[in-house]
Amino acid sequence: MGGLSRRGNREEGPGAATDKGLRVARFGGAFPTVNAATSSRFQESSTTPFPGHKAYEEHYPDKYKTKRSERVRRPVIAGNWKMYKTIAEAVDFVAKVKPLVAAAAHCEIIVAPPFTALRAVAEAVKGSNIAVAAQDVHWDKEGAHTGDVSPAMLREAGCTHVIIGHSERRHDHGESDEQVNKKAKAALAAGLIPIICVGETLDEREAGRTEEVLKRQFQRGFAGLTPPDFSRIIVAYEPVWAIGTGRTATPEMAAESHRYFRGLVRGQLGEGVAATLRILYGGSVKPDNVGGLMAQEEIDGALVGGASLKPDSLSALVNYPRA
Ligand code: 13P
Repeated sequence: MGGLSRRGNREEGPGAATDKGLRVARFGGAFPTVNAATSSRFQESSTTPFPGHKAYEEHYPDKYKTKRSERVRRPVIAGNWKMYKTIAEAVDFVAKVKPLVAAAAHCEIIVAPPFTALRAVAEAVKGSNIAVAAQDVHWDKEGAHTGDVSPAMLREAGCTHVIIGHSERRHDHGESDEQVNKKAKAALAAGLIPIICVGETLDEREAGRTEEVLKRQFQRGFAGLTPPDFSRIIVAYEPVWAIGTGRTATPEMAAESHRYFRGLVRGQLGEGVAATLRILYGGSVKPDNVGGLMAQEEIDGALVGGASLKPDSLSALVNYPRA
């Protein structure tokens, strides 16, 4: 594990389910029922091509909706811009990247600009196949929370998604699994799709505690979430030691953690929920390693920091090599 930056050391971080029946169910218009027959919210969304993703459905142009992924779970390539890009830079980026990814119907594309650029980016991506995520959200509808932003404010700004529980939030702002849970529930209630981050630090991995950490993050961070909620949620496994360090988990290592996390979901919510949950990998994903990662059946996409900041690079990630 030599050669890692100190960052990987200090941060406080957060089975294959390819049932052939799901392939048919998912794209045949009916979502597998998974104990959800009693939920009207679930039934309402079950007729859409991407079940449960109402906010995304509203945004996504028809020409992309009709395209079907070759995979059971539709891949997602998401760029987390962190604290990069002014409004002008963000809008310029969108103008440049839109034509480069316009033909990509095999995956969903999301960019997560800083709060200040959300509205402008949401305007700039209109009519394209790019959706917009915020990087954080508060769980309250309104209140005395200096510096925070509510779910409804994000919706109004044009967001369809929101990243929750990123390790940088957990480390820089002491965010707990319980807060992650409250944020996820509030985001779902407001019609946002949460991209919930989990992952272990270097110390935790070296101590053989990766599974224990993922289990804790699942049990606390995802507590009380129902099958209909899970049909909307995206999970991002981001081992903290791989973020911004240039050190990627090998595709096999990442897949192993994804498989473990999916197993936790299966144990609690059943096979149908587990089999359709999209788990992205994040941590030093680049155009030259994305193909290897995406070749893993367990890896449903990527949450990318540094390599999502240049139009050419994001486009190369979106158009990753496919068999
Ligand atoms: P990098 O791709 O820069 O390692 O960042 C990963 C990440 O934190 C995405 O949320």
